[in-house]
Amino acid sequence: MDATHAVRLDGVSKRFADSYAVHDLNLDIEAGRFFSLLGPSGCGKTTSLRMIGGFTDPTEGSVLLAGEDVTALPPDKRNVNTVFQSYALFDHLSIADNVAFGLKRKGVQKAEIRRRVGEMLELVQLDGFAARRPRTLSGGQRQRVALARALVNRPAVLLLDEPLAALDLKLRRQMQVELKQIQREVGITFVFVTHDQDEALTMSDRICVMNEGRVEQCGTPEDVYEHPASRFVASFMGTSNLMTGTYRDGTVTLDQGPALPVGPRTAIADGTAVSVSVRPEKVWLSDFEPGMSMQRGVIRETVYSGPTTTYLIELAPGVTLSVLEQNTARARMEDRWSGGETVEFGWRPEHCLVLA
Ligand SMILES: Nc1ncnc2c1ncn2[C@@H]1O[C@H](COP(=O)(O)OP(=O)(O)OP(=O)(O)O)[C@@H](O)[C@H]1O
Ligand SMILES: [Mg+2]
Repeated sequence: MDATHAVRLDGVSKRFADSYAVHDLNLDIEAGRFFSLLGPSGCGKTTSLRMIGGFTDPTEGSVLLAGEDVTALPPDKRNVNTVFQSYALFDHLSIADNVAFGLKRKGVQKAEIRRRVGEMLELVQLDGFAARRPRTLSGGQRQRVALARALVNRPAVLLLDEPLAALDLKLRRQMQVELKQIQREVGITFVFVTHDQDEALTMSDRICVMNEGRVEQCGTPEDVYEHPASRFVASFMGTSNLMTGTYRDGTVTLDQGPALPVGPRTAIADGTAVSVSVRPEKVWLSDFEPGMSMQRGVIRETVYSGPTTTYLIELAPGVTLSVLEQNTARARMEDRWSGGETVEFGWRPEHCLVLA
């Protein structure tokens, strides 16, 4: 048994009535990692997290923590803590007492409690807030109290179920960076649940993409974004420009449209119906390189969004690609395309991915 795995799920399934919320989940989470479970609503993220925490019993399979089978153990016998989406702070207690709660219950000595609570409040940058009440704090501050309250117990693993979901976008982005920094500082394994792909990409060392109770792909953020293993992953992670066609000899002929040379991929039989995908930021609109796959299309829409401009380009009837350009200092606004113009564009063949 490999004890460096903080969490291992071995063939874990959960059935509610007649349907599986989680189906044959196999996961190895290395100690010290920031690990995310990512997927759309209802795909089984919370159920998976609850099975790691001991709040839900698996129908099949086993849960291991640091190499020990804990499937039959209740939550309080597992060396994990959970931060839920609703922070569930005690409003009649001060911030310091909220953080101290678990330690008091465990009978830790007063001086030790004071020291550790002080340390934690410093870690989450709430040193000056010890005496305040939760309702006098902002959403982001309350979120950090909830985090401190869980971390103060020094669990081996911290489970976080969409802890940032209630925050507005700006605060959310800020907390993403802070949470990642805190995780690095304390070195505790984080298992983080989110349905937000940007959040998962920003924060994680490893991402497990789930769909309908099953794992679609596990890997680094770069793996799942640059090399999606399925059509689902490609479309769930950002914008993908999915097209369908038929594979033959390193080329995919679109159902409606041109033949596109595609990146290397083994074991596709000629004549197979496939999806292909090109990321919007992998398409070039100027300064082409030799060897590019060149196309021609009509600009249907120009969408300016500050740092970037998105063009919707019709490649063939019914096939419209989203193309992203950075509005850098060197890009000239007057060079931007407008609707109706015919343009040339291209991409490196390896950026045209085949998805079986
Ligand atoms: N206690 C329960 N009884 C019956 N079905 C349940 C129960 N808990 C969850 N489910 C079902 O299991 C599936 C997975 O639910 P889960 O809460 O794990 O999804 P999720 O990925 O966390 O979704 P969300 O992003 O919306 O929180 C859903 O179809 C849900 O309806
Ligand atoms: Mg959930």
